[in-house]
Amino acid sequence: MSYEVIVVGGGRMGSAIATGLHRARPDVATLVIQRGAAKAEETARRLSPVPVEESFRDDQVGPSTSVILCVKPDQVDGVLRGIALTGVRRVVSVVAGLSSARLEAGLPDGTAVIRAMPNTPAAIGRGVSAMSGGANCTKADLDWTESILETLGSVVRVPETKMDAVSALSGAMPAYLYLVVESLIEAGVHQGLSRDISTQLVVDTFLGSAELLHTSGDTPESLRHAVTSPGGLTAAGLRILESRSVRSAFLEAVAAAAERSRQLGR
Ligand SMILES: NC(=O)c1ccc[n+]([C@@H]2O[C@H](COP(=O)([O-])OP(=O)(O)OC[C@H]3O[C@@H](n4cnc5c(N)ncnc54)[C@H](OP(=O)(O)O)[C@@H]3O)[C@@H](O)[C@H]2O)c1
Repeated sequence: MSYEVIVVGGGRMGSAIATGLHRARPDVATLVIQRGAAKAEETARRLSPVPVEESFRDDQVGPSTSVILCVKPDQVDGVLRGIALTGVRRVVSVVAGLSSARLEAGLPDGTAVIRAMPNTPAAIGRGVSAMSGGANCTKADLDWTESILETLGSVVRVPETKMDAVSALSGAMPAYLYLVVESLIEAGVHQGLSRDISTQLVVDTFLGSAELLHTSGDTPESLRHAVTSPGGLTAAGLRILESRSVRSAFLEAVAAAAERSRQLGR
């Protein structure tokens, strides 16, 4: 049978996309291609009922099949050669750093290439994706891609020149936030709280603070001021974070990640 969506690469991001897409749109016939028999079998168990195959076959591809490319940058060239033989006319790439022009060069003339940068909360439909279209994209290609990415959370459209910045910010951001959460859990333990209690306090505060920010319409600054009485305990804690340059650490972290994204694309 032919599929509407073929996700190539059943790793972290490919699995998140296939899971999110199947949950929100079970009507979209989706296939995952994961190389290697053992890994394909393990991926099939994890993603069931989404089918998983080891490689492309002609009968998987129909006139309206689109591919979502979810492999590492150094694995792309081999995959493009495989896609080029199948007649697929639309390729969505989540590969960090690789430009649409670079991908188009490895595909038959006229293939529509859309770059997308989702993040891992996509697995529970709470991610955010940025997308940009390449030279051959029509409005229909962009609208179709947006409708697929919307099953994973919210979507923003940006010019392709902004994709390194997006990758460094929202693509990598779950890792930055988990580091903050880990550190705060450790800080609670250092103050004599059990690890379980500290974890619950931190994780629930993290979720609640995000929800408050999202629903209140207030700025992060005003929500921070609301917790900070003059001369109080929160002010004492914030003074340490400011003196240790936490803001500039985040600025530099995102700048380094954006530079790495540019390097990966060269
Ligand atoms: N993880 C994130 O948070 C995130 C966020 C946004 C974008 N991305 C982008 O998503 C892409 C994938 O990242 P990832 O973290 O999901 O990597 P990953 O976990 O390593 O997954 C890549 C998968 O693709 C498989 N693969 C490689 N070549 C293949 C081929 N020719 N046919 C079929 N399967 C093939 C790999 O199999 P093997 O194990 O055999 O190599 C692996 O299972 C990257 O380009 C990254 O820039 C990731």
